Amino acid sequence: MRSPTAHPQAARPARVANPAMLAEVAAGLSAPQKELSPKFFYDQRGSELFEAITRLPEYYPTRTERALLAGWMPELMRQLGTRSLVELGAGNAEKSRIILDAMRATGLGELYVPIDVSATFLSQTAAQLRREYPGLAVEPAVADIAVELNLPRRIPRPALFAFLGSTIGNFYPPAAIRLLGRVRAAMGPGDRFLLGVDLRKDIARIEAAYNDSQGITAEFNRNMLLVLNHELGADFDPAAFEHRAFYDRVAHRIEMHLVSTRAQTVTIPGLESVALAEGESIRTEISAKYDRESVAELFAAAGLTIEAWPRDPETPFGLVLGAPA
Ligand code: AVJ
Repeated sequence: MRSPTAHPQAARPARVANPAMLAEVAAGLSAPQKELSPKFFYDQRGSELFEAITRLPEYYPTRTERALLAGWMPELMRQLGTRSLVELGAGNAEKSRIILDAMRATGLGELYVPIDVSATFLSQTAAQLRREYPGLAVEPAVADIAVELNLPRRIPRPALFAFLGSTIGNFYPPAAIRLLGRVRAAMGPGDRFLLGVDLRKDIARIEAAYNDSQGITAEFNRNMLLVLNHELGADFDPAAFEHRAFYDRVAHRIEMHLVSTRAQTVTIPGLESVALAEGESIRTEISAKYDRESVAELFAAAGLTIEAWPRDPETPFGLVLGAPA
């Protein structure tokens, strides 16, 4: 992380519940292109809005990935004889259930390790899954996967490490490589890595997925400001920001921004006030899109190799199986 140029340590402790978040926000908002991490989208409301996004007609990734999983996992689990599923950023575990069902069907599944930043969320999901899958041990790991995986010591092998939903696309290439490198370091020789990636395709179709006609993505984007208001006592006025999402053809990624509709000053306790000019933007997310070469490159840099990628040329989303190189 860049070192903050503002002064989080000057924060009034009564209002600063989250010094790590404050430091990260300080660093992002003092960069020439202001930037906030997409991990700040996901409070209760943000998670609900994201769920709503996944059901939008324009947002193809989630339903496509689910169909790919449903078609492939039963056969893949039989082939691999997977005994443990380790899932990065487990979400609501809806897609995980497709893999867990396939693992149960082989009779070999022993352990599920969902990794997520939210401890409360994880323990709820874990309790629910233990009821649904008696005989499966569920050992959640609380971790920010951008930093560490925090895995349990004993993992029955072979294990399948899964990172779905194209969340990898939120990471700039060096961070993506570090993250995959951490996965690689945790893998044994017989383990495999399942990665969900959104694919390069017709740009209008990609842009439509991030500019839905119902404005849900715009609300999701602006919700980040409410998260900062709530978590840090900031005074962002979401109505003074416009949603913008566009495809960068050179970097092959969607960028989402919040554009200030007027000159304004935002106060965040513990930081110098943040000035925004009219039309100035805060980047809130990148969502990289891949093809075979770019995945192979990412894998190679992390010590992984593509073992299988069942591809139907019409499918707008990819499920890739990686193995230690
Ligand atoms: C959860 C990161 C995969 O990049 O498509 C959806 C988040 N942002 N609409 C994505 C998102 C706007 C999503 N990921």
